Amino acid sequence: MGNFSKTRHLMRRGIEFLGSEYAILCGAMSWVSERNLVSAISNAGGFGVIACGAMTPDLLDAEIAATKALTSKPFGVNLITMHPMLFELIAVCARHEVGHVVLAGGIPPKGSVEAIKAFGARVIVFAPTLALAKKLLRSGGDALVIEGMEAGGHIGPVATSVLAQEFLPALAEEHLVFVAGGIGRGEAIAGYLEMGAVGVQLGTRFACATESIAHPAFKKAFFRANARDAITSVQIDPRLPVIPVRALKNKGTEEFAAKQREVALLLDQGSVDMTEAQLRIEHFWAGALRRAVIDGDVENGSVMAGQSVGMVTHEEPVSEIIAALMAESETALGRR
Ligand SMILES: Cc1cc2nc3c(=O)[nH]c(=O)nc-3n(C[C@H](O)[C@H](O)[C@H](O)COP(=O)(O)O)c2cc1C
Repeated sequence: MGNFSKTRHLMRRGIEFLGSEYAILCGAMSWVSERNLVSAISNAGGFGVIACGAMTPDLLDAEIAATKALTSKPFGVNLITMHPMLFELIAVCARHEVGHVVLAGGIPPKGSVEAIKAFGARVIVFAPTLALAKKLLRSGGDALVIEGMEAGGHIGPVATSVLAQEFLPALAEEHLVFVAGGIGRGEAIAGYLEMGAVGVQLGTRFACATESIAHPAFKKAFFRANARDAITSVQIDPRLPVIPVRALKNKGTEEFAAKQREVALLLDQGSVDMTEAQLRIEHFWAGALRRAVIDGDVENGSVMAGQSVGMVTHEEPVSEIIAALMAESETALGRR
């Protein structure tokens, strides 16, 4: 069992695709997934992914270079599809010969998948529906991540367990599918591998690893929280769209509800127009993840966390987290 042979066997297509020792991705987390955590994940046999987020091409360039200096193992870069400089960011990845680019946040714009493949990198995509997954995989996506609503950060409406049952039987034979959202232990990994996944992606479980640069107050909030504390942002007025985000409830999440009521009232009174109203809602959380992760303001910032946060109880090195996940999966598979 020492080399986790059963788990690695079920992960073999994912391992071959990623070039890592285990098909465990640490999903990109803005502000958290930078050089230190990414290199630690890859050095421990997992697959780290830099979160580009809103970085400029120059910042991404520096982050990739710094990560390369810390690991010789493969790692990926996550780009948000609506970034205004997406193609410049792709060019930075090309200059660094990044092996895997994850396109997150929406349908990849025309030409982006082609631009990534042109320099030989693999493209990993997300898809909320089976029809879209098939389309993206037909049009150049090399692998798919399905992510359920248990996850931390921006989420869709469907649970991981349901997505897995819907997508895996339809896609797993021909395509590479990774499962994300709500995975806190290896037994769950074993289950998804048996259903046909080639690997998994975790975020919450790694966010507070020893190597993570997240502020001590951010980590403490995670260690104290239970699953039920990781709530989704609620839309109060149908005219004012709110993108669902899962984060720990705090003063900020309460004030967000009040803000929506205030803006809806201004809209009713005709004191602001619809564009202005929607902007005020959008701007509420601007910079909020940074405030929580970097500044440690866990009361007003956005402490994005998935429901598996209850299983994150203390700081551990990445290598121990990965070893525990693999051992739990191996034990579970050994029971069958
Ligand atoms: C603090 C935090 C920040 C995140 N930021 C991003 C991001 O910038 N881009 C992205 O594609 N996913 C982001 N995610 C989602 C993760 O990449 C990952 O898919 C998710 O955490 C997996 O589910 P889990 O949290 O249940 O493990 C974030 C998650 C967390 C917890």
